[in-house]
Amino acid sequence: MTARGRQDPYPLYAALRAHGPVLHLGSQLIVTSYEQASAVLRDPRMLVADRDMLRRQLGPAYAARPSQALLTDSVLNTNPPDHRRMRQLVSGAFTPRRVAGLRAAIDAQAARLADRLDSGGPVDLIEEFAVPLPLAVICELLGVPESDRAWFRPVAVDFAGAVEYAASAETAKRADDAAAQLRDYLIGLVADRRRSPTDDLTSQLATAAASDSAALSGTELLGNLALLLLAGHETTTNLIGNGVAVLFDHPAAMARLRAAPDLAPAYVEEFLRFDAPVQVTSRVPATAMTVGDAAVDGSVEVTVLLGAANRDPERFAAADTFDPARSDNAPLSFGAGAHFCLGAALARLEAQIAFPLLLTRFPKLRPDGAPVRRDRLVLRGYAHLPVRAG
Ligand code: HEM
Repeated sequence: MTARGRQDPYPLYAALRAHGPVLHLGSQLIVTSYEQASAVLRDPRMLVADRDMLRRQLGPAYAARPSQALLTDSVLNTNPPDHRRMRQLVSGAFTPRRVAGLRAAIDAQAARLADRLDSGGPVDLIEEFAVPLPLAVICELLGVPESDRAWFRPVAVDFAGAVEYAASAETAKRADDAAAQLRDYLIGLVADRRRSPTDDLTSQLATAAASDSAALSGTELLGNLALLLLAGHETTTNLIGNGVAVLFDHPAAMARLRAAPDLAPAYVEEFLRFDAPVQVTSRVPATAMTVGDAAVDGSVEVTVLLGAANRDPERFAAADTFDPARSDNAPLSFGAGAHFCLGAALARLEAQIAFPLLLTRFPKLRPDGAPVRRDRLVLRGYAHLPVRAG
């Protein structure tokens, strides 16, 4: 995909969709329809690329890529039966109660960050709010102490390049360097929590890993902590940034949300649909099978375009229109099936706190300069969103 396509992939998705719900291109099957995307993600015969597959595919390059090796030991890159065991452990430490318990911390952190937007001059909403809020929340969850967070932030941002499709050599190198640093850091954090556990998620996973034979191995523990860190911040940053940019383009909708903050949940679902923070995922068939009318087998990579499925006119009326009042809105932005996002409730909670806060606290919130998109396809969001709050 060209850089222009990455800035605005929706015309390309529409062009692909014109070929039907799936498009078979050599060893790739591209899925654009909502129905097929949902079916692929829910089909137990569809596997994620796991450690063994990646080792075969990448050969010695696999071991030379610390960012890939770190992440493949997590739920996201693991298939049954290991996936079920791992997911049970991670979700057991990441309960609705734990998420609900973060509300006060999110409220406080969001209010503290909002104070800094009020400088009277132009500020970068990404830099000052959309990045630090989810990062503070995930640090809180994992138990990364305040004093380490300044160090943690650039490492976490670089590490996010690890999941980028056809990443540039520079992005890949930064992700690898970050992964190596992150791994060392997490080893220290785990050792510390084993010595003196607290009530954070790292303690819970680390002590379970030490005492339960069905529990996570050492590398799995590091992989899942790294995944939570990665999955927990840039995605939510993008939800906040993309949502604010959409509101700037739709002033009447912005005014309605400001007047009625309890509409926030419906707005957040529509932000997720209209400009999904994660645009793409992929699967590999375990066996010969059909997807739509295409015959596929284990040699085919099935690319699921979540961002295209969310704009499928067969599923959503006026799919290219931002309409927070649409009924029956169920975007595929958090995936579906066995790998459905474990952090969906947390991401929704953060966004449902952030938008009403920004709009009611800053009645004049407006753009102040050109927004800059990150040149990325998988994790879609802004690098800079200059605004004026007062
Ligand atoms: C999985 C999106 C926030 C943790 C996923 C998947 C998607 C996704 C699409 C499935 C990938 C696949 O099937 O291949 C998002 C979006 C978010 C978000 C759009 C924010 C708006 C979070 C947060 C956390 C999190 C805040 C944790 C703190 C995870 C984990 C998985 C996952 C652990 C892997 C689950 C598994 O493989 O079983 N996410 N995510 N996510 N997400 Fe999220």
